[in-house]
Amino acid sequence: MHSKRLVVLASGSGTNLQALLDAPDLGGAVVGVLSDRPAVLALERAAARGVHTAAVPLDGDRIAWEETLTDRVASLQPDLVVLAGFMRVLSGAFVHRWPVVNIHPSLLPAFPGAHAVQDALAWGVKVTGVTVHFVDEMVDHGPIIAQEAVPVHAGDTPETLHARLQKVEHQLLPDVVRDWCAGRLIRDGRHVRTQP
Ligand code: GRF
Repeated sequence: MHSKRLVVLASGSGTNLQALLDAPDLGGAVVGVLSDRPAVLALERAAARGVHTAAVPLDGDRIAWEETLTDRVASLQPDLVVLAGFMRVLSGAFVHRWPVVNIHPSLLPAFPGAHAVQDALAWGVKVTGVTVHFVDEMVDHGPIIAQEAVPVHAGDTPETLHARLQKVEHQLLPDVVRDWCAGRLIRDGRHVRTQP
């Protein structure tokens, strides 16, 4: 089986990207990292590993921006696109062109959106968690692949809770990508089964 070509989209610090770059026996290689923000740590992490990087900033025209992004991604011929802290919504045309997975810091469908950690704290939940899901045209909505619960502690701040969530993210995302690369994820509508 050939090594799968992974393209990662990231907008920030890229610790999940780093987890993918460091993961053993992934069955795939990160062949490119693209960001909507030019000077982010995620791009530096990729460049440090000799991985192709590009910034595609959104300045005004969303449709033109997504066309450029799509062309850049297409030129890298991905088997799988991974959203690892990518803070933009992508159209149906993009997310149905390739398989796309996303990592989200809550137990979806609870707390979708960009403020999941703060929202979970504000709600007073005792347990939150991490979700990896296939991406569809709606925000944080597509079929769930894997979830792991994380306790909320008394006195947690968004920072302490996010740090606890990220430890789980850095295991769960590579595990899911490894399963995808090995062909172990079986998708049936909203239901995703992981074959042993
Ligand atoms: C993660 O918490 C992820 O769940 C969310 O954005 C954050 C990205 O973190 N979608 P990083 O850039 O990978 O460190």
